[in-house]
Amino acid sequence: MKVLHVAGARPNFMKVAPLVRAFEARGVAAPICHTGQHYDENMSRLFFDELGIPTPAVNLEVGSASHAAQTALVMQRFEPVLLESAPDLLIVVGDVNSTLACSLVASKLRVPLAHVEAGLRSFDREMPEEINRLVADVLADVLYCSESSGVENLRAEGIPAERIRLVGTVMIDTVLAHRDRARATGARDRLAPDGPYGVLTLHRPSNVDDEATASGLVRAFIEVAADVPLVFPVHPRTRAALARHGLLTELETCPSVRLLGPLGYLEFLALLDGATLVLTDSGGIQEETTVLGVPCRTLRRNTERPATVTAGTNRVIGTDPATVVAAARSVLESPPVAAIPELWDGRAAERIVDDVLVGRPGHSPGDLED
Ligand code: UD1
Repeated sequence: MKVLHVAGARPNFMKVAPLVRAFEARGVAAPICHTGQHYDENMSRLFFDELGIPTPAVNLEVGSASHAAQTALVMQRFEPVLLESAPDLLIVVGDVNSTLACSLVASKLRVPLAHVEAGLRSFDREMPEEINRLVADVLADVLYCSESSGVENLRAEGIPAERIRLVGTVMIDTVLAHRDRARATGARDRLAPDGPYGVLTLHRPSNVDDEATASGLVRAFIEVAADVPLVFPVHPRTRAALARHGLLTELETCPSVRLLGPLGYLEFLALLDGATLVLTDSGGIQEETTVLGVPCRTLRRNTERPATVTAGTNRVIGTDPATVVAAARSVLESPPVAAIPELWDGRAAERIVDDVLVGRPGHSPGDLED
């Protein structure tokens, strides 16, 4: 049996890592096709090195472009790769443009398709990822959900129950597998000030491209930094947008905000793990902070990961500057107590592999949840 994985952008890499490892442990070939959506050393190669992910069998080197151009180029370059490699199953993860593009190609070539992290919905089509999720889910033959809201959403959209599995989140498999190594890097002491600190990340187009929103957020961050110093690893698109809006210097000259470039997986995990507060518009960081027990305040109007709010440490607070400042203060005054959602135990990839191998000679399925 051969399972091909697609990995395109930074948030895909930590999701593919435990899957490839779990397939290989069961003697199943599990090559990776890297689309090249993310290509900078510290947005891509570093993650493969740190997480011990095998070098991709192929890199489509699509690079950056508009959504349509990037999606089209992935499709065009992926089609011959899929025909040539003829896997028994294609696995796509998450919700980036590469996920959408490769799902379409597999579907048209009638290659069985599995979507990992299926069913998440923000119900906000202003987010490009929401469109990517909807398409990948409608095309997938098997849908692996990370939380129960995913199962409910898919059922409400008419996806038959027999195609849906609740398995937990592969992203958390990677957090739990690498937390000790992350702590051992000493990154927390190197990158963050002594005492309590907050971590800030921002990259959504709706937050960084719009000048008024970006400017309000920067004002709020500077105010929060007066209460607790902030460490801000800056995504390349964010750095470019802040510079364009004339906001970069304001942050650079604020003594209690520390701007860094994009970090590797282990350094960033160490930083999150030691934080008192996280302010972010990322999807995955809402999950990671939940498992680390670190309070997260999400700078968006919605979340596609409601379990991080109902069980975890996350609250969705929007982008109004006064609300952001008040929310940060309230965390510093009384840190919330939280629990970990069902099946977020570090074994999601094993459950997926068990499920894929069900009924295949020589492989015994494990205890599968449904
Ligand atoms: C993509 C995903 C988003 C994910 C995010 C994590 C989509 C629609 N979006 O957004 O879901 O949360 O990755 O980072 O797929 N750039 C570089 N170096 C790189 C990659 C990008 O400098 O290695 C810059 C380029 O200017 C590029 C911009 O970042 O145009 C945006 O990259 P892109 O992959 O289009 O989207 P992200 O914002 O990274």
